[in-house]
Amino acid sequence: MKQLKIVTVSLLSATLLLAGQGQGHHKGQKGDKAYKKAVKIGNKASKKLLKTLGGNLKKHMKAGGPADALAFCAANAADLTAKVDRELGKKVTIKRITLKPRNPANEAKGEEKAILKALETLNYNGVKLPKHLVQKTASGYRYYKPLVIKKQVCLKCHGPNIAPKLKAVIDKHYPTDKARGYKMGDLRGAIVVDIQK
Ligand code: HEC
Repeated sequence: MKQLKIVTVSLLSATLLLAGQGQGHHKGQKGDKAYKKAVKIGNKASKKLLKTLGGNLKKHMKAGGPADALAFCAANAADLTAKVDRELGKKVTIKRITLKPRNPANEAKGEEKAILKALETLNYNGVKLPKHLVQKTASGYRYYKPLVIKKQVCLKCHGPNIAPKLKAVIDKHYPTDKARGYKMGDLRGAIVVDIQK
């Protein structure tokens, strides 16, 4: 009986040791309960943001065309994102990032830049991007959802041939705009969800 206990204890510590080793190398991370929970939260949060922004975009494109939709986005996209962020609670934050921002507040910073560049390179070389990526951080997890241009409608406002009238409206709202010249299939940016333990 005593021997069995010793065996059990040493098996347990071996398991813990192995689990601990995975930390820096993401080994075993996918089986992790906290990891799975983070993915769930990231999926839900990014869906909520896409639904909020996409739903409004569609509505205004239908009602008043691209100029109307643009004015709506210029006035409300940041506030709507902040509202979704608040609704997600204190331990979850959400934002949009890109290498070529329209709204300067959405410019990727530090390692976000490196990650978007890596995704861009993969995408450019025909590697199908994953639906999401999860990074372990000091305070929990960081979830990235790559945003690829899949709909023709995106090009009306982000493409290489924006209608001159619309271009003028964009220039007025965003004098430093870099978010144009995209083609179908290009990586536009990512949604980032930070999940604190
Ligand atoms: C009617 C014009 C319009 C259309 C159509 C449009 N966008 Fe945008 N997009 C904007 C504006 C305006 C902003 C800046 C919003 C802000 O101030 O936060 C923006 C910002 C973004 C951002 C945040 C990064 C940045 O540059 O500020 C992403 C990502 C994005 N758009 C992706 C898309 C995708 C994907 C589509 C197609 C589904 C799309 N957009 C369609 C006008 C448009």
